Amino acid sequence: MDAFRTLFQRDPTVAAEAPGRVNLIGEHTDYNGGFVLPTVIPQRCRVLLAPRTDKLVRAASGNMDAAFLLYRLGEERPRCSWLDYVQGVTSVLRANAHHLCGFDVRVESNVPLGSGLSSSAALDVALLRALREAFRLSLNDLELALLGQQVENRFVGAQVGVMDPMAASLGEPGMALFIDTRTLGYEHVPLPPGADLVVINSGIAHQHSAGDYNTRRAECERACALLGVRQLRDLTVADLPRLATLPTPLDRRARHVVTENSRVGEAVEAIRTGDLNRLGALFYASHESQRDDYAVSIPEIDLLVELSRQTGRAYGARLTGGGFGGSIVALTHAGTAREVAERIATSYEQQTGQQPTILVPQVGA
Ligand code: GLA
Repeated sequence: MDAFRTLFQRDPTVAAEAPGRVNLIGEHTDYNGGFVLPTVIPQRCRVLLAPRTDKLVRAASGNMDAAFLLYRLGEERPRCSWLDYVQGVTSVLRANAHHLCGFDVRVESNVPLGSGLSSSAALDVALLRALREAFRLSLNDLELALLGQQVENRFVGAQVGVMDPMAASLGEPGMALFIDTRTLGYEHVPLPPGADLVVINSGIAHQHSAGDYNTRRAECERACALLGVRQLRDLTVADLPRLATLPTPLDRRARHVVTENSRVGEAVEAIRTGDLNRLGALFYASHESQRDDYAVSIPEIDLLVELSRQTGRAYGARLTGGGFGGSIVALTHAGTAREVAERIATSYEQQTGQQPTILVPQVGA
């Protein structure tokens, strides 16, 4: 509030926020029409906003330097900075015939950037929520999430799927969000009470729009063209022998997506029946598939997963998010999350010299 007043010489009239997310399982399945199972994390993006009567947008970030940046509605152009998310939101809203005036906005987030925990979707969704309220836009939570995806796809240039904005817009604490990304149907599944969630950021940031992510996406499209299917979602584990006929590495890429899709269904079943050993085994299998078939892991993330296993207190662990850096998610025996996370983080730091961050459980929680 004070920082907003100091910057803009007036008070905000709207406050909104949205959480980061951790994907429990179902990685690189969303842009293949498949299933995902994210949940929200305590870290959030917060937005304070006051509408204006002209076309000017003045935007400041508590995570960047103190000054604000300026642009006019209708003159959005990518600048490769955090402002692209704000410009992307106004550009996409206008392209979808939502009427806006300018505004003053300050954003502040404790979702670490490049951590695989969806800091950008948290910003997109928090800002869309603030603008929905400020300008009385007619948008439900699913429509809002879809606009968030358009911001990334059409303005920022990251060909991401729909999981992150849906998790930020529709996710609830204590619940996994089971999404069918083809139908956009979703269901809240209570997290199992017998296990704790651990999320550790490796300290190595990814850059999605930098290319690796878009390359994987293109490889999936190529595999579909060769197999004569619309999306890899149309295949099941019964089709694995067919996938083996694809040229390498498309055979491995497709195998990851098809087996991962089936693991999501199995994971939901394991949660429902309280079978934590099964759920944990699916986490490890998902990690191996991402490492060996999809080639999106890095040695530091593999080490975090291995250290989780060595504690003897983890049901399972895996790379979460887009990969090429970022974070792991682990499921530990109930009541052990803090101790297990600290053991993993200490050994990791000793062995790599990298500075990990324990995000879940949150310090002080
Ligand atoms: C990123 C993207 C998501 C999804 C994951 C991988 O987080 O934003 O849409 O594709 O990578 O599962």
